[in-house]
Amino acid sequence: MGYNTWNCFGGEINETLIQTTADLMVDLGLAKAGYKYLVVDDAWSNPQRGPKSDLQANSQRFPSGMAKLAEHIHSKGLKFGMYSDAGGLTCMGYPGSRGHEEQDAESFASWGVDYLKYDNCFAPASDWVVDRYMAMRDALNKTGRPILYSLCDWGVGDPWLWAPKVGNSWRTTGDIANNWDAMLRCLDNTVGLSRFAGPGGWNDPDMLEVGNGQLTYNEERAHFALWALLKSPLLIGADLRTLSKSALSVLTAAEVIAANQDPLGVAGDLIWKEGPIEVYAGPLQGGDRAVVLFNRHVDGTQYPHSNITGRQAQAMAQAQAEITSTESLELVRCLLRVSINQVAYMRGPFGDKSFKCVDMHGMQLQMLLP
Ligand code: GLA
Repeated sequence: MGYNTWNCFGGEINETLIQTTADLMVDLGLAKAGYKYLVVDDAWSNPQRGPKSDLQANSQRFPSGMAKLAEHIHSKGLKFGMYSDAGGLTCMGYPGSRGHEEQDAESFASWGVDYLKYDNCFAPASDWVVDRYMAMRDALNKTGRPILYSLCDWGVGDPWLWAPKVGNSWRTTGDIANNWDAMLRCLDNTVGLSRFAGPGGWNDPDMLEVGNGQLTYNEERAHFALWALLKSPLLIGADLRTLSKSALSVLTAAEVIAANQDPLGVAGDLIWKEGPIEVYAGPLQGGDRAVVLFNRHVDGTQYPHSNITGRQAQAMAQAQAEITSTESLELVRCLLRVSINQVAYMRGPFGDKSFKCVDMHGMQLQMLLP
């Protein structure tokens, strides 16, 4: 859980903004809710490497340097994340780390970096993507500093097949954008991949758009609950200086965060679909199960993304084989009938004849199975 500058600010970042964001992560209660990493995305560096071919902080935007920034972030009890690229240039055209892996990993470690997002722009087609990502993994390990390694290869080459041995998360999709369709695209591209995730390595459908002003309150709740259920990294991408109270309440929904951070560490997945109604579920420690009931209908529009692919159908069949009992199917049917909210979030022991359906803001509907 953390924060990343990209969704909201793109390349318009500087050290004052990052320091303020660190302060606000604490002051708004986000750090307390579990958001620990503050990640500076693309455009933090000078356009050219320094005299020793070293990466250097952008002298206009980050005049005090990255080590100083790390000090401030650490003084707030947060962890510091940075960004580089497995090709020759970053996506915005700043120097990438290809061929400089060890040197750059040492720079990151010496600045106090705790997290590296590693992108996939400007690499020669002849390169094998896995080799480039492994080169940085090995370089980071060699520094001896624990650094979370977040692979941003946009799902190129089905990373879930190899990334669990290489990084701590891997993107399953191209970039999210600040609209409902983009959120659905990222969701759909991640369905069926739960079995590849587990403690130490997670599917990453990209960063959150909650608080960026385009999604409605219900859409933000849907987005957040689904990301939590998929055990996605929860990376806030909004301007904390102007964050609305309602977006803050979505981002700090304690029970939803608890499902995301549940120690059992099993990612949820799509288990049921009837037209636009979908049910996502996954087990929690202690025998509970988290369930998200998701209705794609918004304002009378049926979204076209509800066609399921072969992989999604396979995942549903597998998940149902694992959890299907008469009771769980009855429960799903029951949820489908009573749902009035776009998203419901349910927690309770399966096998019990009664369970609680809790929406994200604590409204509880006590229901009995037929
Ligand atoms: C790619 C990544 C984004 C962001 C930008 C930065 O598009 O997928 O998340 O890091 O590059 O340029």
